[in-house]
Amino acid sequence: MLKTNFLDVELSNPLMNASGVHCMTTKELDELATSEAGAFVTKTATRDYREGNPEPRYYDTALGSINSMGLPNNGLDYYLDYVIERQRAGAKLQFLSVTGMSYDENIALLKKIQESEYEGVTEFNLSCPNVPGKPQIAYDFELTDKLLAEVFTFFTKPIGVKLPPYFDIAHFDEMAKILNKYPLTYVNSVNSVGNGLYIDLDKEQVVIKPKGGFGGLGGEYIKPTALANVRAFRERLNPSIKIIGTGGVINGKDIFEHILCGADLVQVGTTLHKEGVSVFARLTKELQEVMKEKGYSSLDDFRGKLKVIE
Ligand code: FUM
Repeated sequence: MLKTNFLDVELSNPLMNASGVHCMTTKELDELATSEAGAFVTKTATRDYREGNPEPRYYDTALGSINSMGLPNNGLDYYLDYVIERQRAGAKLQFLSVTGMSYDENIALLKKIQESEYEGVTEFNLSCPNVPGKPQIAYDFELTDKLLAEVFTFFTKPIGVKLPPYFDIAHFDEMAKILNKYPLTYVNSVNSVGNGLYIDLDKEQVVIKPKGGFGGLGGEYIKPTALANVRAFRERLNPSIKIIGTGGVINGKDIFEHILCGADLVQVGTTLHKEGVSVFARLTKELQEVMKEKGYSSLDDFRGKLKVIE
């Protein structure tokens, strides 16, 4: 009932982790790989190991989470070796997330992947809001266009981009116009809603240390923004560019809504962090229940079929 196809690989269901959650170490990645998730993505890798921002840097709230992790990761080689090893053992569809600390690092990372034996998918993260002094690339349209133009002079493997949320129709239009110029496999919307501020009222204090308490929001707070971005890009992007919907998935109904807006796959971040990998068993069961209640037997029955009021 939940089977879906991505790059001609059949997945048992459309669920994945969102990069950053439960995917830092090979142990966590192994746990994802053997969970009920249909696929997984690695923690966004930079060229070198990064310690990330000082702790506390992640905080669960009643309606979601706030984080300013600062891209802690084990460096590209660690994740590239992991996915190559699994590929040699027969793994079919894997997602390797990367971002550079500079324009040149971005190019170098992607060249390394291109030259490697890795044949899976690369998720090019253009939207980390948490590195002090480094604005999110995808809020700079000109830079995004320039970077993608250079990437596609040499990169021939499947690649998608992880985008931040946009909040203006003009920005959906402008970004879609840029993305449509390139042979992207997919667009992942959205990364966390950047630079929110959560306050502990008793202490009259912020809850995370980096950046004076400013951090990316995830969870229930962001579902309407995530759905809007999925819907807006599905309406604007070439049909060959798939959409991964991320943001605000707490239960099976939320997944249904992402798919109704046009998502091909759906990623889970905050709720995975709160519940652990068993969340995928719960979510797949709940999604099946919603579909049964509505009389749908496959995801294609309702994918992208959101109705508007005429
Ligand atoms: O701070 C972080 O590591 C988050 C990364 C991201 O949102 O892409």
